[in-house]
Amino acid sequence: MIRIGMLTSGGDCQSLNATMRGVAKALYRMPGDIEIVGFVDGYKGLIYEEYRVMKPENFSGILTTGGTILGTSRQPFKLMRTPDENGLNKVEAMKHTYKKLKLECLVVLGGNGSQKTANLLREEGLNVVSLPKTIDNDLWGTDITFGFQSAINVATNAIDCIHTTAASHGRVFIVEVMGHKVGWLTLHAGIAGGADIILLPEIPYDLDIVIKALKSRAQNGKKFSILAVAEGAISKEDACMTKKELKEKKKNGVVYPSVAYEIGAQITERTGQEVRVTVPGHMQRGGDPCPYDRVLSTRLGAEAAKLINNKEYGYMVAVNNNEIVKIPLADVAGKLKTVDPESSIVKEAKMIGISFGDE
Ligand code: F6P
Repeated sequence: MIRIGMLTSGGDCQSLNATMRGVAKALYRMPGDIEIVGFVDGYKGLIYEEYRVMKPENFSGILTTGGTILGTSRQPFKLMRTPDENGLNKVEAMKHTYKKLKLECLVVLGGNGSQKTANLLREEGLNVVSLPKTIDNDLWGTDITFGFQSAINVATNAIDCIHTTAASHGRVFIVEVMGHKVGWLTLHAGIAGGADIILLPEIPYDLDIVIKALKSRAQNGKKFSILAVAEGAISKEDACMTKKELKEKKKNGVVYPSVAYEIGAQITERTGQEVRVTVPGHMQRGGDPCPYDRVLSTRLGAEAAKLINNKEYGYMVAVNNNEIVKIPLADVAGKLKTVDPESSIVKEAKMIGISFGDE
């Protein structure tokens, strides 16, 4: 019997189940007697030996469902080598579980931190195959991650809904979009939702330019404006500060729940305009996977199973020009894929008049 461990790690997304289904369906069709062991709540299950022996039927009927049938948790990479409250060495515990269960390999569905841990386990001698999950689309080595398109749909829908009320009231609206330290989700949802101003972490904004863009819209007879602001957006001024200086600034100034609220307050103060802030938050990770993600997940899952069948370990399956490829985990771990301010998509958005608050 060939026993394969599987886990979903970090923040969830819509297409985790579809991806596990893809891996499992392809694996069960491969030669040999395959048994899949699902770890509960990500690496936590591997550390504390909490697992379920899966049956083929467990992977049926889950293509269209969001969340994860295995559960997930955040086990920060930087604490992986720190003993838990009972002094347990987590890395050794994971290796112990892997060996005890006589796993042939471990399949990890995860984002940045989870890929780093997957690579650490690879370095420790475990056979690992990983898949690129995250609504943030910030994994290095892949053109796209599963979950990203579904999250774009949710964030775009939020901006669409805001559009009608913004138009009725003639207000300035800010929609804060997830994405952690990168602006992929905001950029795509902002363009798809017809936002007038898009603020991204990769393009620090100048508030004067944002205000100018708002005023120019008003002067052109536009009664409302919509800003899509990434949760990690940063002003030019703040981007030039050291971490210490930023901390000091926060200590001495007004504390806002997030950057979107700060920008909203500044716009009102400077223009007297009414501003409303909407934060779709975790809705962006919820609901069902969109058709694009279902296809992507199925493809990635099948190719991950192929790697396992070929005993090709230490890779993340990835997308390169619509082909599924394998990227060494060692290359992926610890690298962030950010939006290039000079990329054509940003330039094209600027060509139609979207302001990024930078020029
Ligand atoms: O990585 C996915 C993500 O949703 C980010 O966009 C966001 O910054 C973060 O997770 C939120 O994390 P949590 O679910 O732990 O609040």
